[in-house]
Amino acid sequence: MKRIFSGIQPSGRLHIGNYFGAIKNWLQLQNEYQCIWGIVDYHAITVPYKTDELEERVIDCTASYLAAGLDPEKSILMIQSKVKAHTELTWILNTISPISWLERVPTYKDKSKQFSSNLNMGLLDYPVLMAADVILYKANAVPVGEDQLPHLELCREIVRRFNHIFGKTFPEPKAIIKKGAFVKGLDGKNKMSKSLNNCIYLDENPDDIWEKLSTAVTDPQRVRKTDAGNPEICNIFSLHKLLSSKSQIEYCKVGCQTADIGCLECKKILSENIIQELSPIRARLIELKKNKKYLKEILMNGIEKSRKIAEQTMTEVYDKIGIKYKFLK
Ligand code: TYM
Repeated sequence: MKRIFSGIQPSGRLHIGNYFGAIKNWLQLQNEYQCIWGIVDYHAITVPYKTDELEERVIDCTASYLAAGLDPEKSILMIQSKVKAHTELTWILNTISPISWLERVPTYKDKSKQFSSNLNMGLLDYPVLMAADVILYKANAVPVGEDQLPHLELCREIVRRFNHIFGKTFPEPKAIIKKGAFVKGLDGKNKMSKSLNNCIYLDENPDDIWEKLSTAVTDPQRVRKTDAGNPEICNIFSLHKLLSSKSQIEYCKVGCQTADIGCLECKKILSENIIQELSPIRARLIELKKNKKYLKEILMNGIEKSRKIAEQTMTEVYDKIGIKYKFLK
């Protein structure tokens, strides 16, 4: 069975960008691949964070995975830092990854501006760790949002280089990109992102969903309700495409273009659909977070399974790169 690895950083509550860009697409893939879903905490510590909040974030992320429908009977759920081979393999990949490749990664360029006072090696090395996450399990595919594509491309380059130098070892993982791969934030401008305060969170309560939506940016050229709008440049409309029925989408499209309906009516329909989609997830998430024993059991099981696969890969890698030291055996 072909294998998948993907992950989310435990750097805040998950939002509907993570949901539509990643987790929702993972649900179907669980039936087609052997899947490993990581909580990638080593990535999360490359930017400033609160040490006393990290554990809660990991719990929240695990509960969110399960609440959204990931099935621990079908997939492996694990924490990156608990499988030491992720950093071991990163070191080995570092030795074949030219710095110039890493310096041209767009997220590194952005982050080096944002965190200029803490431009640490971890930020530069971030994509190498990500490559290690994926190839440690010899994953064939990686379902992600659009923002991760440059990282995936780099991962493929590193794989090609490793295979070229040491002999064919890893498959070149392909990205799986689906509908929802780029969800804009409520500012209507930037990607929805924990760090930009433009999110609807997975566990957002219904009143807050409406409050946030009611002030969200729409078509900037539609100033008055009587102005005809252009749905194709309105972020609310792009969210409709992810959540609403065909007839609702058509109703909002035509209503906006003819100024028959105002933005608030259009938002109200969207709000109800978001609430409908998120309410069961929110309810499960609240329950699951109370049951830490259950979360622990699932993670410990997933970590053990991950370690077994990782160990096999590392034995092969050490052999290929000449670290076998038979005289010690
Ligand atoms: P992270 O934690 O930023 O995001 C997790 C997943 O959610 C997707 N995503 C979005 N999709 C659409 N619209 C958005 N606004 C949006 N925001 C986030 C991301 O594309 C991602 O799929 N580097 C990764 C984590 C990682 C990883 C890996 C992923 C570490 N190792 C190995 C895959 C394989 C990251 O920062 O994701």
